Amino acid sequence: MKILLSHAELEQVATDLLVLGVRNQKPSEDPLVARLDAALKGTLRRAIATESFKADANSQLVVHGSSGLKAKRVALLGLGKDPLTAPRVRDLAVRASRLALDQRSVAVVLPDNDTAMVEVLADGLVSGGYRYDRYLTGSRKPKKSLNKGTILVNARVTNAMRVASERGVITAEAANLARDLVNSPPNDLTATVLAETCQSVSRTHGITCKVWDKKGIERLGMPLLLAVNRGSAEEPRFIHMTYKPKGGVSTKKVALVGKGLTFDAGGLCIKPAASMLDMKSDMSGAAVTLATVVAAARLALPVEVHAIIGSTDNMTGGNAYRPGDVFPSRKGLSVEIINTDAEGRLVLADALAYAQELSPDYIIDHATLTGASMVALGPYRAALFANDDTLRESYRSAGETTGEPYWPMPLDDDLRDQLKSSIADLKHTGSRLGGTITAALFLREFVGNAKWAHLDIAGPSFLESTHGIYPRGGTGFGVLTALQFLRDL
Ligand code: BES
Ligand code: MN
Ligand code: ZN
Repeated sequence: MKILLSHAELEQVATDLLVLGVRNQKPSEDPLVARLDAALKGTLRRAIATESFKADANSQLVVHGSSGLKAKRVALLGLGKDPLTAPRVRDLAVRASRLALDQRSVAVVLPDNDTAMVEVLADGLVSGGYRYDRYLTGSRKPKKSLNKGTILVNARVTNAMRVASERGVITAEAANLARDLVNSPPNDLTATVLAETCQSVSRTHGITCKVWDKKGIERLGMPLLLAVNRGSAEEPRFIHMTYKPKGGVSTKKVALVGKGLTFDAGGLCIKPAASMLDMKSDMSGAAVTLATVVAAARLALPVEVHAIIGSTDNMTGGNAYRPGDVFPSRKGLSVEIINTDAEGRLVLADALAYAQELSPDYIIDHATLTGASMVALGPYRAALFANDDTLRESYRSAGETTGEPYWPMPLDDDLRDQLKSSIADLKHTGSRLGGTITAALFLREFVGNAKWAHLDIAGPSFLESTHGIYPRGGTGFGVLTALQFLRDL
């Protein structure tokens, strides 16, 4: 979707849907509502009264245009009484685009004429216009697509506003890329295809990208990634993308690591059918990782960003790894396999060890790691672990800025005993109790002295139905906060 900035008079905006966010609990007293009502010859006031529209949060009122307006329809979106933060302005724009999803264009009035909000408004318009329709044919294929969003400002359009708008577009396009990958069916998005996607977006955006195939991974030394891949007919891939800011100034170095399970059947410890259904989304961590490095490059952030992805599916082929097997790892520690459905931490362990070898200032991993994280925090919130207090706090604060919900979790050393094996250095799963924590404790063994944060996004990465700014299916959860964290450095 293309985003334009315009200083046109409200009455003159030619668009399929003109959207005004309203905070005044007596909406008719809002000066812009009054102005639109005058152009609509009183229909807006009458509709406000008939529908008892009070500008409550998430309320909406849509009326048809008339000869006094160039817009085909007008929507008032209630904003409630709370102060307008950046996440709430983004939410307004998402709602605006969703309302216009079957049209071609939408225009939104910048709330409070606050130009600091141009970026999130642009972000929300593009993000709210997301729809996954790649596999629809015939009458199911949408006839129109929302391809133009206008931000209406009450001042001359400046270059700073254009830059902010472009930033918002880049951010939303990154989240939309992650959503597309997560929504892709697992027969079409194999590890090979994921790696090809990484290579092609890297070429477009001046990122270097190295990919290892199965033979290459054997030479590189990633026994745990290969163990998980054993049951699969598809080759695994290991991917390392690097974005270095131009100019060569000394900057912080961040390694993003993503779990890229293109499908998780559970391996021999096979999942029940209902739990397997959404397991195409088990590469959401990889999607966030890839999308974030792409956006960092497009935003030309002054940070060196590495995106490291281990990718395979977890299947039940005749050569599949078994409970009781023992494998070495890149880090050197031997690992006794307990439950083959705890494959994510194995793939991450080798990828984290690789990341640590780059001596980054920070390692940040994203993974759909445990169902237990949803038992603890519900479907909308991600678990946040870190082995460094300052890092944990800065990540939490980045989440607060973007509005993405995270919750700090403890790396309880008491639970470490659950990972003791009698025949190897480590068991890879503990008991059911504290399952999200023991998974994180297992990962911690592979990061050495690096400052590391782990985000268990099993819940919010894939949703049954639309929630807040997130669409159903792949949500792109995590991209906003990862970018905010990089920008805060
Ligand atoms: N990919 C799953 C975790 C998951 C579950 C993500 C539901 C999203 C929705 C992971 O590989 C897994 O199967 N974890 C097991 C670990 C257990 C065997 C220790 C789990 O959570 O049940
Ligand atoms: Mn699993
Ligand atoms: Zn998994």
